[in-house]
Amino acid sequence: MTKIGKDIALAKQLLETSQLVAIPTETVYGLAANGLNPEAVARIFEAKNRPNFNPLILHVADVAHAKALTREFPAKAQQLAEVFWPGPLTIVLPRHGSVPDIVTGGLDTVAIRIPAHSLTLELLRSINFPLAAPSANPSGYISPTQALHVAEQLGEKVAYILDGGPAAVGVESTIVMVKGDKVYLLRLGGVSEETLRTVVGDIIVTTDAQDKPLAPGMMLNHYAPGKPVLLGNLRELQAKHFKENIGVLAYMEPLAEVPEEQQRILAPSGDLAEAAANVFAYLRELDKLDIDLIIAEPVPDTGIGRAVNDRLRRASGEL
Ligand code: TXA
Ligand code: MG
Repeated sequence: MTKIGKDIALAKQLLETSQLVAIPTETVYGLAANGLNPEAVARIFEAKNRPNFNPLILHVADVAHAKALTREFPAKAQQLAEVFWPGPLTIVLPRHGSVPDIVTGGLDTVAIRIPAHSLTLELLRSINFPLAAPSANPSGYISPTQALHVAEQLGEKVAYILDGGPAAVGVESTIVMVKGDKVYLLRLGGVSEETLRTVVGDIIVTTDAQDKPLAPGMMLNHYAPGKPVLLGNLRELQAKHFKENIGVLAYMEPLAEVPEEQQRILAPSGDLAEAAANVFAYLRELDKLDIDLIIAEPVPDTGIGRAVNDRLRRASGEL
């Protein structure tokens, strides 16, 4: 069994010798390696079976370290960093020459964030390199929000799992690209589009555009559990699939006539942040049950609810 614990000194020592360590963040667990060492980073791609054109996020402890990884840090990036870091926002900026090609997939830009998790911040402050870290799941599966999820799926492929408890936000970071004075939204996530606009004004949304900057990973068929997921009106889906044994992922209320243990309620009180914190863990739990398929309903499409719906659509293969 993979070692799980809270030993920051051990995590540091393993990372310094180019090994892989899973790290907790407020969004999801990351699979980390020394982001300036191409051989260490290559191990991430191998462990996840990740296509090498899909670039990684570099995690740092403070803005000064973020700046050192870029050629330019425009005023809009500065504003975003001041308000949202540490936190669930990744900023894509012109890449500094010290960042290895394997991290950026050969792009001229690099994705950076300061995660809001005390253990990981302490770890980052104790080392003298950034941590390259994608979500700690095999490529194509949903992201892990607990240390145990990482152990179950990556097992011996990771030298150590730093256990920081369940992820508080529960969906991945929002990704923006800052180019001069323009801000492009590349991925919905922990910081809502509405909140971003209150800080930087106009935002160019490219999460489903064809000819604008995109996060390369968002084009992959992604985030799917093993069982089929159907997204829509629960009662209609239940009626249509009455012959099958279904699992239910509901927003606030369970369905009648489906056993309780085959249902998960994202947010009984309606709180969308709670829905985000639960969505990946509940999909995993349902995926393990002896059922034929999972039916899920969208949550209200506002704030972080939009990121939840985005992940549900990906889980159902719609995106
Ligand atoms: O919350 C998160 O962001 C988590 C935690 C661990 O920080 N990480 C995460 O990493 O979700 P990953 O690798 O699963 O997703 C990173 C996304 C990918 O879709 C990738 O294509 C995009 O970031 N990305 C990375 N570098 C980029 C760049 N230079 N330009 C555009 N997109 C980039
Ligand atoms: Mg991922």
